[in-house]
Amino acid sequence: MDRRPIGFFDSGVGGITCIPHIIRSMPEESVIFFGDTARTPYGSKSPHTIQQFTLQIGDFLVNQGVKMIVIACNTVSSIGLEVLRNKYPDIPVVGCIAPTAREVIKDAKSGDRVGIMATRATVLSGVYVNKLEKFSSEAGKDIKVSQVPCPALVPLIEEGLQSTDIMDLTLQHYLDEYIEREEIDTLVLGCTHYPLVAENIKRLYPGIKLYSSSKEVATAVEMELNKADLRSDVHQHSNTFYASDLSDSFKNMIERVLGKDEMDLDIRFKNLDI
Ligand code: DGL
Repeated sequence: MDRRPIGFFDSGVGGITCIPHIIRSMPEESVIFFGDTARTPYGSKSPHTIQQFTLQIGDFLVNQGVKMIVIACNTVSSIGLEVLRNKYPDIPVVGCIAPTAREVIKDAKSGDRVGIMATRATVLSGVYVNKLEKFSSEAGKDIKVSQVPCPALVPLIEEGLQSTDIMDLTLQHYLDEYIEREEIDTLVLGCTHYPLVAENIKRLYPGIKLYSSSKEVATAVEMELNKADLRSDVHQHSNTFYASDLSDSFKNMIERVLGKDEMDLDIRFKNLDI
């Protein structure tokens, strides 16, 4: 049993979409979230820069006394997971990609055509494709995997433009031709910002099965905590949200995703001395 908080981080607000799943399934756990809103988006930055940011945030969370680090960001999961695990071998580090790929393959059948929409950095890393191909060949399922970078989505979501024509047009710009050409029947939201536009995608492309990396990483956290015997034994309900730029859109997003009234919200600014 372990009452220390779980540390989550993302380049911005997207990773907050993992938190409701955690609070619902494990209300006794405390959460510390860090959103690097001053430096978002990460998806168009170089692997070296993303790894530097990752280590800086890892240090911050470890100094907060977390029992586990959750990379609530596919971009960092594809590029920074190993550097963080190497630096903190005694702290479990959970990323988004393997848990999401495992869930997709669990449900898949041969002939499925799986698309991954993600940031440019995630797409270039090829980690999703590798994991999906590895797990599908282990499961003896013959699926077709492809991916599409959607670099303009994260800035629009950080601006809170989900319910606008601009968002729909941007999604169509990236997805219309891609979905038709690749005959996609299953789409992975390979960025933790994208659940915030899942309703737009469902409306624009009804009938396509969606997987959310935010939900799957939360499920993996519960499994890892159980495996390492790190679950808390008291109802603590303490959630602290740090941002490197404490904008109104960060606060609004937390309240929108978690609900203002039911949560004990503690929102703070944290400068990482950039
Ligand atoms: N939420 C991050 C992800 O899952 C967005 C990365 C970015 O800042 O571009 O990839």
